[in-house]
Amino acid sequence: MQTAKLSLDPLYRIGEIDPRLYGSFIEHLGRAVYHGIYEPDHDTADTDGFRGDVLAMVQELNVPIVRYPGGNFVSGYNWEDGVGPKGQRPKRLELAWRTLETNQFGTNEFMDWCQKANTAPMLAVNLGSRGLDAARNYIEYCNHPGGTYWSDLRKAHGYAEPHDVRVWCLGNEMDGPWQIGHKTAAEYGRLAEETAKVMKWVDPTIELVACGSSGSGMPTFPEWEATILDHTYEHVDYISLHTYYGNYDGNTPHFLALSLDMDNFIATVASICDYIKAKKRSKHTVNLSFDEWNVWYHSRINEPKFEPWSFAPPQVEDIYTFEDALLFGCMLITLIKHADRVKMACLAQLVNVIAPIMTENCGTAWKQTIFYPYLHALQYGRGVALNVNPCSPVYDDAEFDAAPYLETVATYDEANESVAIFAVNRSLDEVLILEADGRAFPGYQVIEHITMTSPDLQARNTAEQPNTVTPQVNGDAALADGMLTANLPAASWNVIRLAKSAG
Ligand code: AHR
Repeated sequence: MQTAKLSLDPLYRIGEIDPRLYGSFIEHLGRAVYHGIYEPDHDTADTDGFRGDVLAMVQELNVPIVRYPGGNFVSGYNWEDGVGPKGQRPKRLELAWRTLETNQFGTNEFMDWCQKANTAPMLAVNLGSRGLDAARNYIEYCNHPGGTYWSDLRKAHGYAEPHDVRVWCLGNEMDGPWQIGHKTAAEYGRLAEETAKVMKWVDPTIELVACGSSGSGMPTFPEWEATILDHTYEHVDYISLHTYYGNYDGNTPHFLALSLDMDNFIATVASICDYIKAKKRSKHTVNLSFDEWNVWYHSRINEPKFEPWSFAPPQVEDIYTFEDALLFGCMLITLIKHADRVKMACLAQLVNVIAPIMTENCGTAWKQTIFYPYLHALQYGRGVALNVNPCSPVYDDAEFDAAPYLETVATYDEANESVAIFAVNRSLDEVLILEADGRAFPGYQVIEHITMTSPDLQARNTAEQPNTVTPQVNGDAALADGMLTANLPAASWNVIRLAKSAG
């Protein structure tokens, strides 16, 4: 058995964790909206048509912010189609995903759902097929108190108070040739700059996210970031990053190491922001919004084809394995490790589409394997992120040279005098002994050691068997004389929770 070491010290602060680090995403795609969060015919639907079983799971997660309405969808979206009397809303060909969009769910329904889900909206504007004019009208509709055409229209639609949407994305993945209205960096940079300017004239209190690259593998990365920030730097607050990984060749050790790519991606984008800051002699800091991240590959390989222009077909529905949950946990840890610069992130997505929550049409809802690490981060990943200076044995990897068996970070919630250590043991066959020096937390004790393991890396939760993979409070972490020890089972997700003892 091998040993990994780390140290816990409240002074080794990485940065304050913005609760929005654990956001999520709902796109008009497949069954995310229709049959996902909105299904008026469902047994549990409320008077707004929102599924109660799904809402209960979203409330259990306590997701702080949800991005909407896309994704690729937004680049062809007319937001006006989705407001006003439902009977008058147009049906449209939805070009991004080749489906039929009925517009029975739109901005106001999303705001109502957010309120019930106890979450905040993050809206994206269409900079693909549309531009500045639609964006300024949209923010006037949502955020202006009244007395103007668009704000009074909102009132006429039954919403007297402004929606007060705080965060807005300037388009989606505009670097991608698949995007409706794909642009060069120079084209997007100018459009985003001008759109940002007028959106902030309508409401100077909003925060704006510029589109970064759709992935670190894009041929235009990182020049895209440098160019678009050159245009937008003083007008935006965040730049976006997106990434999805998959185990395409069945090489699980390499698959589990892919969070190291996410780590490099974040570090590089943060450096580019700082380079432009220096170049512009700016006092403003642009932070990072990792507003799409997840494992996504099962559905790319095995999803059945559907008739084009069908309504809410099952699309992009990955059924997650246990090993997916392990990489997912490593990705969460990576986000927390960069809490000083990554201030927002959105798990893509929330329901049915590459999601922790799955539903059957007019049937049951269940939690995928990835639900649990996400829940744990939301519950316990609070306060400040701590650099634990891990020292771990490593394994060879063709892309990353050496990949540590241990992926880990700790969080410290000073107000509640509690610490959480999040850890993945990437070894598929050996227990990893964890030794942590916790002397800087005198009087603390182990509250619980949660583990998630499975004898089968390919185990999944399904509608019929929803509890095949679930976390257990069965770990053996113990703290004596300031030294913490724990056995991290082979291929495991772990949360070790400490708190100051009462006496
Ligand atoms: O999340 C699914 C899709 O992935 C989004 O629509 C797009 O932005 C990304 O390519």
